[in-house]
Order: sequence, then structure tokens, then C-alpha cells
Amino acid sequence: MTHKIAFFSTKSYDETAFNQVLEKTSAQEIHITYFPHTLDHDTAALCDNADTVCVFVNDTLDKTTLEVLASKGVKHIALRCAGFNNVDLDAATALGILVSRVPAYSPETVAEHTLALILTLNRNTHKAYNRVKEGNFELAGLMGFTLHNKTVGVVGSGKIGKATMKILRGFGCEILCYDPYPDNEVIALGVEYVALNTLLSSADIVSLHCPLTEESHHLINAASIDEMKKGVMLINTSRGGLVDTQAVIDGLKSKQIGYLGLDVYEQESELFFKDLSDDIIQDDRFQRLQTFPNVLITGHQGFFTREALGEIATVTLNNILDFQGNIPKPANFVNLDR
Ligand code: NAI
Repeated sequence: MTHKIAFFSTKSYDETAFNQVLEKTSAQEIHITYFPHTLDHDTAALCDNADTVCVFVNDTLDKTTLEVLASKGVKHIALRCAGFNNVDLDAATALGILVSRVPAYSPETVAEHTLALILTLNRNTHKAYNRVKEGNFELAGLMGFTLHNKTVGVVGSGKIGKATMKILRGFGCEILCYDPYPDNEVIALGVEYVALNTLLSSADIVSLHCPLTEESHHLINAASIDEMKKGVMLINTSRGGLVDTQAVIDGLKSKQIGYLGLDVYEQESELFFKDLSDDIIQDDRFQRLQTFPNVLITGHQGFFTREALGEIATVTLNNILDFQGNIPKPANFVNLDR
């Protein structure tokens, strides 16, 4: 029997990647309908008769939306990303909907983007590019600092945190790490696990690699920013909600934060993955962030390499086949044990 998938927040590159994998597999029994819309309680009505709904980071899977999906017969949410903070897992479980994700499509991909943010902010390659294009070879204002021997504090030593630490080791950085669950492979890299406040007060660069949970929401706030070294570089490639944006703006104004690199933003669902270049952006906090010369924001592109997209499509389709065959893998299905 054909397994019907309603695919939300579709971009042309998603369609290409998923169709390529579908062609290679003999999964002819899968039929995907691609919708450009993000999923919420209104657009949920689109997925009549779908067995699985395939979603991304800014689709809303709150209780109301899940109830509409359940009433349409949806039994499986296939997230084509690692984080699942946008799903009300209790509601999904109560409605008998299984939730799968792609736990590790390419941690190195996101780790490399983290380094891109650190190096661009530090060495001002984005500003140098524009200057040289215009025949301006003046160096004043482009001064960076040498990464070698600097202390980097990594919050979260899971797959992406670990991949980031391995790269930073190659730069000769000292690394401090905070994670409630220390990992021997990380200790073997010569990384020291410390308390969060020790990390914050010692690091020249703080990089966030933990998931967004109730506990980690606004982990970076006015008090934690006060604990950091004056002029610290703060990098967030994890989830926007880890950072209290207003506190970060205040920290930038007081120069307590010397550099800010973001690939994620708390209110990103209103902005990211869309071309708003002809619109008036209404988010005043986001616009304030853009005014600082020492802030670099990318629109959630840490995952965006051809290798990672191919892997995301492969694992997501395997999750769908596993669901269909009633053999869901505990590592990929997040509410199996609930
Ligand atoms: P993971 O599950 O392998 O590792 C997360 C680590 O964080 C675990 O070791 C866990 O013990 C630790 N942790 C949990 N709560 C913590 C807390 N309060 N403080 C410190 N550590 C804590 O996850 P992975 O694959 O490394 O991904 C990390 C995050 O990166 C994801 O949750 C996701 O939000 C984000 N991400 C961003 C992408 C992007 O495109 N920018 C792409 C993929 C993931």
C-alpha cells in the first residue's frame, strides 16, 4: 500500500535531495506531496490522508496542530533535523503519533559552520571582501586575534560539540567544556570538564552546542553574560531559545560581549528561510542586533551542505520505511519509550 507523506516547509533543494534518494531506493510505495507552507494548526488541514508528516525546524507541532494531524489520520512525524524542541512530545504520545528525527547526519557540517562564524568575526573576512572589491586596501578596523592558545568554552559535548572541539584542537586552542554527561572521548582530547560558571568566567570564546530544553532555555542571560570575560566572543549554532536576545543586546552595548555569531535566533520562524529583502522587518530586536559591527548572523545554514542534505534525506526516508515496516529504531524515534 502506498505510504503518503505530506512534506512541509519545502524548498527546491529539499525536493531535489529527497527525490534523488527516492529514485535510488526501490521505495516506490512512498508518495510525497511537497508543500511550501510551514506547518501550523491552519496548514495541518492540507495533509488529508497522509500517513507521515515530514517537517523541519520552524514548523509548529504544538498540541492544537497535533490534534488536527491526528484527526487527519497522521501516525508519524518525521523531523528532517536533529532537534525536536518544536514538538509537544507529550501530546504526540497521547495521540498515538510517533516522532522520528535525524540524530547525526553530519556533526562536522555544523561544527565547520561554527568555525566559519568564529573566523569571520575574528578576522573580518566579510568586511575585507567588500573593501578590496572597492579598491580599499586599508587594514585599520580589520584587526583580529590569534586563536592559538585562546580558551574556548564549549557548552554541550555531544556530537556537534565534540566535532567542534576536534577542529579547535587543531587550532591549538585550550578547551573547557560543560555537559551534565561527561564523555571519555572528549576527555581523551585533552578537554577539561568544568562547572558552567567556571567555563563562562574563563573562556575567550563561548560556543553553544546543547539542545533547547526547559532547563537550557535562556542559558545565556544577563547574569551569565556578567560572569563572562569582558569582550568575550559568543557563538550560537544550536537553537535561538538558548539565548536571551535582549540580554545579549545589552551585553553588546556595554561591550561585555565583544563578538556575537548566530546561526539561530529565538524568533527565527518569522524570518529565516524566506526572502524578505523587499519587506519591512518588524522584529526590532533582530534589527537592533544587525546594527552592531561585531555581530554576524547567518539564517540557520549550519546544516546546509550537499553531503548533509543527502544524509538527511536518506535517514528521514529510512525512518519512514522503518515506521511503515513497524521496526522503528529507538535511536531515531524519540517517543518510543513513553
Ligand atoms: P547531541 O544530543 O549529540 O548532544 C547534545 C549534548 O548536550 C549532550 O551531550 C547533552 O548531554 C548536552 N546537554 C543537554 N543539556 C545540556 C545543558 N543544559 N548544558 C550543557 N549540555 C547539555 O546533539 P548534537 O547533535 O550535538 O546537536 C546539538 C544541537 O545542535 C541540537 O540540539 C540542535 O539544536 C543543534 N543543531 C543545529 C543545526 C544548525 O543547522 N545550526 C543543525 C543540527 C543541530
